Amino acid sequence: MPSAKIYYDADAQLEVLNGKQIVFLGFGNQGTAQAQNLRDSGIPNDKILVANREDSYAEDARSKGFIVEHDFEKAAAIADIVFLLIPDQVQPGVFNAKFAPKLKSNVTIVVASGYNVFFKLLNFAPTQDVIMVAPRMIGSSVRSLYQKGKGYPCFVSVEQDGTTSGLTTALALAKAIGATKAGAIASSAREETIMDLFAEQALWPNIIMLFREAFNVLQEAGCTDEALCYEMWMSKEPAEIFERAAEDGFIGQLKHHSTVSQFGQLSGSLALDGSAARTHFKEILYNQVINGKFAKHLTSIEADLEKEGLQNPLNELYRRAEETELVQAEKRVRQRLANLL
Ligand code: NAI
Repeated sequence: MPSAKIYYDADAQLEVLNGKQIVFLGFGNQGTAQAQNLRDSGIPNDKILVANREDSYAEDARSKGFIVEHDFEKAAAIADIVFLLIPDQVQPGVFNAKFAPKLKSNVTIVVASGYNVFFKLLNFAPTQDVIMVAPRMIGSSVRSLYQKGKGYPCFVSVEQDGTTSGLTTALALAKAIGATKAGAIASSAREETIMDLFAEQALWPNIIMLFREAFNVLQEAGCTDEALCYEMWMSKEPAEIFERAAEDGFIGQLKHHSTVSQFGQLSGSLALDGSAARTHFKEILYNQVINGKFAKHLTSIEADLEKEGLQNPLNELYRRAEETELVQAEKRVRQRLANLL
């Protein structure tokens, strides 16, 4: 089986960033964490520029002492390194129109997600570097783990090596944001994207469906709303199980359960024939994710996702999900709990 190279602090040299003008396009979940980590790693404040429209994120950047520029074309023109940290769905529109035309020919563009690179939705010149430094953590953890002197999992890759020093820059930036402390894993925009979209479009939809159907069957068997909600998720038992899985092993964590539970889980899972699931998973992976069908569809409805109410397709999906008995029962339970207070 293939194994990935892992880069540590000793593989990276911060000095290669000396004198470089670094621009953060976006100061949200990741932007705020990565910019602060970078500054705390010794990058001078006047070498960091936050390119942001005038909104609460821009205010936040200023309150943290960063220099903010609203004119994206101005910011693009001076950048040696650009961190692309606005939401994936708005990146092509903003980057291609305002940033790409003004960027230097040898600029380094850094993405934290492979999506727009893998689906070729961003315009890069062949002389530019395109690298991925993708923390596998929410922004607040990227910041808090750095402050505690700890690392966090992160993917690194060079997607386009226009200057031939893409990897050196990628590792220096990964170190500066604290990502090589625990080891940054060599990956690719393709690998990151297909794993992410597969989890979102195949694995978790099935888990949500299994919970929904389990709920219906147990409710039919006479179980109460309260018992079901607490048994299935409100007790936070599933969260604990996944935490244990990360620490003790996916199957090894079962040893923390009772013998009855261990026997039931192991014999039950081994007896299940996964071939239908495997066929379904392959269909999603190849005919929805890798072939770009989902990405194309998302691009086609992008404008609708900004709309209010049920004209927004995401709101319509929420409306349909809320009609399920699981969500209705949970609402009843939360309402009764609120009435008790
Ligand atoms: P976010 O949703 O927190 O981004 C907010 C920022 O984007 C703000 O600075 C806001 O002013 C700007 N922005 C939003 N819409 C804009 C528009 N139409 N025009 C100009 N600026 C706009 O973004 P987040 O979650 O930090 O994601 C950034 C990148 O990091 C994405 O590629 C994402 O996939 C990746 N990533 C995010 C993680 C997370 O913790 N949310 C985890 C790992 C990677």
